[in-house]
Amino acid sequence: MKQKERKAGQKKTSGPSGESRRDNRASRPPKPVARPAAARETVREAAAPAAVERLLTARSGERPAERVPVILDSLGAGDFHLIDSGDGQKLEQYGPYRIIRPEAQALWQPSLPSHVWEKVDAVFTGDTDEEGTGRWRFPKAALGETWPLNLLGVDFLGRFTSFRHVGVFPEQIVHWSWMKDHVERAGRPLKVLNLFGYTGVASLVAAAAGAEVTHVDASKKAIGWARENQALGRMEKLPIRWICEDAMKFILREERRGSQYDIILTDPPKFGRGPNGEVWHLFEHLPLMLDVCREILSPQAVGLVLTAYSIRASFYSIHELMRETMRGAGGVVESGELVIREAGLDGKTPGRALSTSLFSRWVPK
Ligand SMILES: C[S@@+](CC[C@H](N)C(=O)[O-])C[C@H]1O[C@@H](n2cnc3c(N)ncnc32)[C@H](O)[C@@H]1O
Repeated sequence: MKQKERKAGQKKTSGPSGESRRDNRASRPPKPVARPAAARETVREAAAPAAVERLLTARSGERPAERVPVILDSLGAGDFHLIDSGDGQKLEQYGPYRIIRPEAQALWQPSLPSHVWEKVDAVFTGDTDEEGTGRWRFPKAALGETWPLNLLGVDFLGRFTSFRHVGVFPEQIVHWSWMKDHVERAGRPLKVLNLFGYTGVASLVAAAAGAEVTHVDASKKAIGWARENQALGRMEKLPIRWICEDAMKFILREERRGSQYDIILTDPPKFGRGPNGEVWHLFEHLPLMLDVCREILSPQAVGLVLTAYSIRASFYSIHELMRETMRGAGGVVESGELVIREAGLDGKTPGRALSTSLFSRWVPK
């Protein structure tokens, strides 16, 4: 059994920010001696600052059963569908608007003729990096920054953002409808934690279905947009706590307080920053994040859902991490990819599958 030495938000003391973990490993202290088996064993450093003191828990017990590969395939829902893709781009329908955005995975050629691709309302041009700036071009008429959309019965605003996003990640629909079903069937108000919650569509879906929701995001702007979405759907009375905080810091505090959740959704970026400059680096911090998430799952938990949309990795990397994290908890870990299927101009004609992210989900059975 090992006590792992990786810590949350740990800052490097030298070297450029992109320096690899391999360099850090060289200076790690030796592994502590083995201890007797225990289902859960956490070691804390007494006087360390809050965000860096929590070490990984040494888990024992059987790994949960597994279901792999699971491909969660969506033809779209509500106001969204993928019309066509190809030549490094995708053509999407968001309510009244047809939109073209860069899509590196669309290596093939478009199915639909060029005149369809030419008659669009908005095209994202410029930098295609996740965090890169860029521009929107509106070939027909200048459009406002936002427009109303509906998914799974929830109203929210589509939004032309400078990072090529449109205020929603519709590939998440499959997780959101899974969550909605569970919340509706629970017979009690489930407690849902939505980490990296962005504009709050998942939080609104959960609350509309009857959950008590805690939504966490580091961006004040995103929280503001989420609140706007809540107001748009006249959902202000629903129990949602909007929290602008570093996700890791928040869950560490929840663990110390003994808070518990029935469903946790976590959809972290590869890199991110908390409001006070806390560093999130998926490959460094995901094991600890899942570890803490496990500790704050309630005994009647319905699921822990991880998506990873921005990393180059196999789904097995998050699958095996999830199974290790959930050792001794029983249940099943199912992992694979979220894909959006082309649905043609009518939204009903299945075409090619576009992979959008990896996912891994623990469920109790
Ligand atoms: C791609 S979005 C997640 C999308 C969201 N799950 C959805 O489907 O609508 C990533 C979000 O993570 C947030 N973020 C980045 N670093 C963070 C951190 N350290 N703590 C909390 N949120 C963070 C960003 O502000 C952004 O809103």
